[in-house]
Amino acid sequence: MKAVICDGFGGIEVLKIADVEKPKPKPDQVLIKVMATSVNMPDIVQRRGKYPPPPGESEILGLEVAGIIEELGSEVEEYKKGDKVMALVGGGGYAEYATAYASHIIPIPESMSFEEAACVCEAYITAFLNVFMIGGIKDNDYVLYHGGGGGVNTAAIQLTRALTNNVNIIITASPRKMDKVKEIGANLVINYKENPNFSDIIKEYTKKRGVDIILDHVGATYLDQNIKSLAYEGRLIIIGVISGIKAELNLGLLMVKRQKIIGSVLRSRPVENKAQIIKEFKEKAIPKFADRTIVPIIYTVLPLEEVAKAHQIMEKGEHFGKIVLSVSH
Ligand SMILES: NC(=O)c1ccc[n+]([C@@H]2O[C@H](COP(=O)([O-])OP(=O)(O)OC[C@H]3O[C@@H](n4cnc5c(N)ncnc54)[C@H](OP(=O)(O)O)[C@@H]3O)[C@@H](O)[C@H]2O)c1
Repeated sequence: MKAVICDGFGGIEVLKIADVEKPKPKPDQVLIKVMATSVNMPDIVQRRGKYPPPPGESEILGLEVAGIIEELGSEVEEYKKGDKVMALVGGGGYAEYATAYASHIIPIPESMSFEEAACVCEAYITAFLNVFMIGGIKDNDYVLYHGGGGGVNTAAIQLTRALTNNVNIIITASPRKMDKVKEIGANLVINYKENPNFSDIIKEYTKKRGVDIILDHVGATYLDQNIKSLAYEGRLIIIGVISGIKAELNLGLLMVKRQKIIGSVLRSRPVENKAQIIKEFKEKAIPKFADRTIVPIIYTVLPLEEVAKAHQIMEKGEHFGKIVLSVSH
């Protein structure tokens, strides 16, 4: 089958289209004929050699797919050949065929295209897991999501608007994305390029209250500002460390304000744990996709063969929302 392989680690030049062996589903897996997949920042980090796949997962990039079930593992009873599904995969998405655990797939609602469905399982489930299941968001909260316009961030905004009432959403974004972030539901957008001390703005905006949840992928350079932005009993959830992994922390402030810092990764969780997360996402969030309350924001759709261009767009931060790769057969 056709797949994108990494010929070594490095820049976009290592991405090559190659003919590789079609994967075989384990008894509790299905084989999916991939119609579309989408690009996530972890794919780029993996391409650079800094995010190896968990043991047993495909070396091929790609964490989410949408397509048609082609073959069932011997233990799979709840799906049939020909079903249209989206899936969270530990790797292997940038290919004509991918395997997925039956417990990690979601039927595609009739109202959704393959391209839209290919955006859901990594970006939206990451946002749902961290903001809802770990962060415990509730109506009337104040939240701060860093990275306005990215895949996970736009997903977090859309899920918050669809599943809660009256949450005050604060976003940090680069100037070119600020207006669009407001359009999809942010209450306050902070230009992070001009405001490295964003906690002052947040204190003023929240009348010294602070925010209940921070979803952060920036890491080290934002730690101090994040802690200063958190309310009493606030939760800082770290899902990425693009600025570095080491920073100084004021433990006194953390203790007195009874705050929590939580690290969180989706990909390397045990199969059963991911199944539980997907089950809850299916029940609570998928109806909002089915009725078009949430429509994934697609910046562009490119053929799989143009994967290098897709990665380049993400690395330059040109995109707003998701970059989709369509797979022809
Ligand atoms: N832990 C997990 O389970 C998990 C799962 C998926 C993704 N992630 C992580 O989540 C992050 C987002 O992933 P993604 O796929 O959504 O990537 P993405 O689409 O590239 O989004 C990242 C966004 O962050 C913005 N940004 C860059 N530097 C920033 C800064 N200093 N302050 C605020 N915003 C900044 C970028 O905008 P500009 O370029 O316009 O600045 C971009 O819109 C990545 O770090 C990824 O590794 C973690």
